[in-house]
Amino acid sequence: MISKQKKLIQDTWAQVVPIADQAAAIFYQRLFEIDPSTRPLFNTTDMTQQRKKLLQILGVAVSSLDNLGALSKTVEDLGRRHAGYGVKDAHYDSVGVALLWTLEQGLGKAWTPEAAAAWKEVYGMLSSIMRNAQQAVSTKVAA
Ligand code: HEM
Repeated sequence: MISKQKKLIQDTWAQVVPIADQAAAIFYQRLFEIDPSTRPLFNTTDMTQQRKKLLQILGVAVSSLDNLGALSKTVEDLGRRHAGYGVKDAHYDSVGVALLWTLEQGLGKAWTPEAAAAWKEVYGMLSSIMRNAQQAVSTKVAA
C-alpha cells in the first residue's frame, strides 16, 4: 500500500470517528439486510459492545498501516476465533460489501474512487489474513 493510500485511509477514518457508533450500527443493519444468513450469528450478542469491538480493531488497523505485519498475529487469532462464531468464508464478502457501503454513506463527497480503492485494499488485507487463519482451523477440525 503506497503512502498516498495510507494517508487517504487515515484521513477518511478521521472523518468517520466522530460518527463511529452510528456508522457501526448502520453497518450491521446493512449487513443483515444484504446477507440475512449473518443475522443469527449475532443472536446472543450484545451489539453495543460488538460495535465498540469492531471499531476498536479497525482503528488499530488504520493506525498500523505502516506495519500491518506486526498486527498479523492479532488478526490471525481473530480469524481463528471466527471459526467458533459459525462464520463462513462467503460471509467475508458480505461484510466487505456492507463495510464499503457504510463508509460511502458516512463519507459523502470524501468517498472518491481513490478512497474506495484504498479501503477495498485494507479490507482485502485484513479479511484474507482472517480467512486463511480460519480455514486452517476448519481444515484441522475436519481432518
Ligand atoms: C475483517 C473482518 C472482520 C473483523 C475485523 C471482525 C472483528 C470482530 C471482533 C473484533 C470481534 C470481537 C470478538 C473477538 O475479538 O473475537 C468479532 C466478533 C464476531 N464477529 Fe467479526 N469481524 C470480521 C468479520 C466477520 C464476519 C465475516 C462475520 C460473519 C458474519 C463476523 C461475525 C462475528 C460474530 C458472530 C462475532 C461474535 C459475536 C459475539 O461475541 O457474540 N465477523 N468480530
